[in-house]
Amino acid sequence: MATIQTILSRYRPEIDDIDLELIIANELKKTREFVLAHPEFCISQLKIKDLELKISRRKHDEPLAYILNHKEFYGLDFKVTANTLIPRPETELLVEKTIEILTTAKNSALSIFDVGTGSGNIIISIAKKLESKKINYFGIDISKEALEVAKYNARKHNQKKIKFIQSNLLNSFLENTKNFLPNHEHIILANLPYLSNKIYSASLPNVKNFEPKLALYSSMAGLSHYKKLLEQIKELSKRCKIRFAILEFSPEQKKELAILIKKNLPLSEIQFQKDLFDKWRICVIIPT
Ligand SMILES: C[S@@+](CC[C@H](N)C(=O)[O-])C[C@H]1O[C@@H](n2cnc3c(N)ncnc32)[C@H](O)[C@@H]1O
Repeated sequence: MATIQTILSRYRPEIDDIDLELIIANELKKTREFVLAHPEFCISQLKIKDLELKISRRKHDEPLAYILNHKEFYGLDFKVTANTLIPRPETELLVEKTIEILTTAKNSALSIFDVGTGSGNIIISIAKKLESKKINYFGIDISKEALEVAKYNARKHNQKKIKFIQSNLLNSFLENTKNFLPNHEHIILANLPYLSNKIYSASLPNVKNFEPKLALYSSMAGLSHYKKLLEQIKELSKRCKIRFAILEFSPEQKKELAILIKKNLPLSEIQFQKDLFDKWRICVIIPT
């Protein structure tokens, strides 16, 4: 047996204070406030063994979100595993922009496609916020394991109407035209892998050694996924109405991305926006 205070004093020099408090709280299934308010609380030997393992994982750079198995995004709690990217705060911009457009716009029949859904953080946050609207939601990922996590998160947040589908980008949908309803407006959202070889290779160990490469890296200076997706959107716009698309990208890709968009959707209106760190992060594409 040891108390919370014993563990805090023993490991404070080794990992960040807040991380340590959160790992203890997670292990004891209590809040961080409880950990701080009850230093005398006794921890069983079994839990101490578990705690030591988690502390050691943190010391070896594993992200806290993977150790605790969850991450907050847009005010909601999401399960994450080694098969899903850890949702980033800058991605909230894509969610905010979608909600902003849809709450001010006229009501029409809508289908939203979140391509590269990962833990489902984007599509679930939007579905939850727009609960009163009649919208079809699709979360798409190439990774079966990521889709399992997304399904779990959708159940957790009571968003039963989202359909999760395994597909390489929009391939499965393009093969089956009945997915694109003639009387619907279609919205494509994508936070696909966009790190170039150079940026991926230089990324920190907590990213490179733990987050799935499948979720981060893309060839052609990080733009091969968006090149293919834009070709698919072009194809799709011939068959059904695309209301808008929003893509998240890396700031240095702005110029190249604009070229790719113009090549595939020459008449579209493009709006770029910066994230909360003042970096170019999303582009809204409105085909005309
Ligand atoms: C950058 S992560 C984004 C995850 C999540 N949407 C988020 O915002 O945190 C990219 C996701 O795209 C998926 N992905 C990679 N290649 C794909 C492809 N060709 N088709 C569909 N999904 C793909 C990965 O499995 C990963 O879940």
